[in-house]
Amino acid sequence: MIGEILVETWRHAFRGIIEDAYLAGMSEDDQALRHTRRMGTPGVAYQAGVDADGLIGFANYGTARGPAIAGVMELYALYIRPAAQGAGLGKALVKAVAQDCRSQGANGLFAWVLSDNPNRGFYERLGAKVVAKGSVHVGNRDYEQLAYLWPNLVELAEI
Ligand SMILES: CC(C)(COP(=O)(O)OP(=O)(O)OC[C@H]1O[C@@H](n2cnc3c(N)ncnc32)[C@H](O)[C@@H]1OP(=O)(O)O)[C@@H](O)C(=O)NCCC(=O)NCCS
Repeated sequence: MIGEILVETWRHAFRGIIEDAYLAGMSEDDQALRHTRRMGTPGVAYQAGVDADGLIGFANYGTARGPAIAGVMELYALYIRPAAQGAGLGKALVKAVAQDCRSQGANGLFAWVLSDNPNRGFYERLGAKVVAKGSVHVGNRDYEQLAYLWPNLVELAEI
């Protein structure tokens, strides 16, 4: 199910941004396997949205990768099926993530987002601010990405 969501959302959101050949070559099984390899470690938590047919979106999060910043956790991924977007699920999942991170003692949360991601507005609408720039390697290319930070989880847990 996660593999299906990753392939669907990447092809929908990143067409014209990530190379066509990479998007065309994505497979659900391979994406599910990569996801499990990357995320199958203790401490990685999930919030999920479901309907009668199953999973329609998920967020996962945990300890910040890279240099640790005291009290700040990382939202690793947030993907909602295209057909379920725009109905409030993304916001509900971020709120649930913020509540859980708070209960784990964190004060802040950040996420890496591709600079060209048309959905950067979602993070901005929810009050996150760009605090760093980096890059990520996908397929044969490096892409610029931005770190969006919510410095105040008390506020985010109440949105
Ligand atoms: C980005 C994403 C997670 C948003 O989830 P969603 O369920 O569609 O968004 P919601 O319906 O919860 O929207 C919450 C608020 O953000 C706003 N918003 C949503 N997408 C937006 C966008 N692209 N630009 C600006 N504002 C946006 C909504 O209008 C809403 O505002 P409101 O509270 O004033 O009504 C989802 O569209 C998605 O998975 N997209 C593809 C993958 C992706 O880009 N993931 C994130 C980066 S890895």
